[in-house]
Amino acid sequence: MTDPYVIAIDGPAAAGKGTLAKRLAEHYGLGYLDTGLLYRAVGRLARERGVDPDDAEAAGRLARELVPSHLDDGSLRGHEAGEWASRVAAHPSVRTALTDFQRDFARRPGGAVLDGRDIGTVICPQAPVKIFVTASAEVRARRRTDELLAKGRGVDYAQILDEVRQRDARDSGRSTAPLRPASDARLLDTSDLDIEAAFRAACAIVDASPPRI
Ligand code: DC
Repeated sequence: MTDPYVIAIDGPAAAGKGTLAKRLAEHYGLGYLDTGLLYRAVGRLARERGVDPDDAEAAGRLARELVPSHLDDGSLRGHEAGEWASRVAAHPSVRTALTDFQRDFARRPGGAVLDGRDIGTVICPQAPVKIFVTASAEVRARRRTDELLAKGRGVDYAQILDEVRQRDARDSGRSTAPLRPASDARLLDTSDLDIEAAFRAACAIVDASPPRI
């Protein structure tokens, strides 16, 4: 049996991974999984049930209870859910509980794009295409600030920059599956690229990678 076709997109928060991954999936006719949603849903369950997100055992139990309908909640994409996600995501018990769901998705016959932090390193180390999407912390904080302003929310750039840096430190500093590029990942720095240019650069990487069988 040939390996399933997987495009693994990893990178720090607010680098534009999600938008890019979704567009790649549409363009190449692949399934799409935003794996951050899984961790966000576990964080949400912890909050709803009054569970301490830093309690590895309790958070692991919640992750094992997760069902796909938990992912259908629009408010999971908010900033606060991201903070809780980042905390529960540090526990090996949580990561292990979510591994099979991600690998099953990656095995779908038509192929898939998965975006996250450890897709190319842990979940799908055999993926024929791996892209590590980055942008400077300042650019990511600026984009997030503009996004929130566009939604009519009052925001403080300096505070957002501080939060982006804290989240980077937590995601990169954890001992299990820390955020880092796979040795065979292509780096895509979007600091100076708009979404169209980033998409074109990503397509160029995909098209230059081993073909889909
Ligand atoms: O991509 P995101 O912002 O939705 O992710 C939220 C948090 O979940 C992120 O700070 C770290 C964690 N996460 C992870 O550890 N591994 C993944 N594959 C995806 C997300």
